[in-house]
Amino acid sequence: MVVSWYAVVALAATALGATIGPSEHQILEKSHCGRVWVTVHSPEVRMNAGVTLLDAVELNWDFNGCFSLPKQIGLFDERPQSWLSALSVYSVSSMEGHVVTNMSLGHGTLPAGWDAGAGSKGPHCLWPWAGAGDLHEIQTYNCLKIQPTWMEDLGSKINNLRIGELAIAGTHNAGAWKFNTEISSVSRDSFVLCQDRSIWGQLVHGIRYFDFRIAYYEFYQNEEDRYWLNHNLIRVRPLVPLLKEIRKFLDVTKEVVFLDAHHFPVGFYQPDGAPIWSVHAGLLEIVQRELGPHLAPANEFGTGVGTRGPTLQTLINANKRLLFSYVDNSIVLQNSWLWPILPHLWANTNSPTVLLQYLDGAIAASPQPTARSPLFSAMAQTTPTVLDILFLRGSLRENADEVNRNVTARLASRWRTRANIVSTDFFLGNDVVDLSIMISVERASRL
Ligand SMILES: *[C@@H]1O[C@H](CO)[C@@H](O)[C@H](O)[C@H]1NC(C)=O
Ligand SMILES: *[C@@H]1O[C@H](CO)[C@@H](O)[C@H](O)[C@H]1NC(C)=O
Repeated sequence: MVVSWYAVVALAATALGATIGPSEHQILEKSHCGRVWVTVHSPEVRMNAGVTLLDAVELNWDFNGCFSLPKQIGLFDERPQSWLSALSVYSVSSMEGHVVTNMSLGHGTLPAGWDAGAGSKGPHCLWPWAGAGDLHEIQTYNCLKIQPTWMEDLGSKINNLRIGELAIAGTHNAGAWKFNTEISSVSRDSFVLCQDRSIWGQLVHGIRYFDFRIAYYEFYQNEEDRYWLNHNLIRVRPLVPLLKEIRKFLDVTKEVVFLDAHHFPVGFYQPDGAPIWSVHAGLLEIVQRELGPHLAPANEFGTGVGTRGPTLQTLINANKRLLFSYVDNSIVLQNSWLWPILPHLWANTNSPTVLLQYLDGAIAASPQPTARSPLFSAMAQTTPTVLDILFLRGSLRENADEVNRNVTARLASRWRTRANIVSTDFFLGNDVVDLSIMISVERASRL
């Protein structure tokens, strides 16, 4: 039996794995050829009798290039060993594909002690597993995972990569999950919320890049209450508690995190476009207060125009593991600790076809030789038009569902050699976290 290299890599990092080699019960992902993986269906599914299913578990497979196709794929709630324990089984008739099961992920409680604070290192499974094979044997399996410490787990392999050479999973509009305002605590809507996991949950799942849209509302008494995370003009959550979640994660891990203040939709500029210096300064003070000890200043760690930035090892040795990039050059010029504008490859289209074509070209042409930032982010989600929103055509969940599987497939193929950050909506609908980890290891092995 050939164990997939990835599972071995993940386990070699644990003390047990290093001394006795992985035993069957520690392996989270296995295959002879091809892969299966578990995702979460972002739109709700209408069932019979008016019942709707939220967060349906999806099973995905890709056996391109393999000698033979497995006969079937099943959903399991433990490591798949026998078809008798499958919760449901579906036949496989194409090289790649997916099925939406009729089981909900449920709470998605984070395993191995990570729900509330630091848990045990290494990847860990949530309950759903996918297994594929013929009628006698399940040859290929995988689970829906958290990857809370992937950089540390794989440090001996990837620490010589520069940050611009990593593949990193990111979230678009990372703070737009579950309203937390005076009037709303809604967690599902059509056109504002882009995520359904907390910032802590995103970090534990393995996301390392956050696209933040920050707004300022003067009508709050306390200065720190005035800073919010928005989706465009809509207020979603206060900023400071989210910074505290990032702080807590950095305190209990050795991971490196990229935070990007990418848009200031309300309160940061005069009507003529001039920055309101005091509002920017207030934000920088809050970020320094909350994250200060972890901040890696650009003036200390930057490596200059057209380069790929510091290695992970440099940041880890210095124990400075939070890089804060800022979208306004005039503010960056005056605050040399800020990282320069992080280019977003943004198609601004509501068409999945146009989005993927645009990203194919834009990723191939990145990084620009004169880029000031070592990083760039492919924004792998469609953008609804004003008319889509007015006429309630679709929703961000449906839009994410239309592209997330293609994004997984593209990252595994065309984008594989060049992509840096890939930012998505409802990231549990794609496999960007695990793929990025594999791709980073692959790139490091060629150094
Ligand atoms: C779920 O799907 C399985 C397999 O297709 C089927 O056997 C089962 O009856 C379904 N359950 C519900 C509640 O629809
Ligand atoms: C997305 O992937 C599916 C399945 O491979 C394919 O049929 C479809 O054309 C792709 N969509 C786009 C926009 O490329």
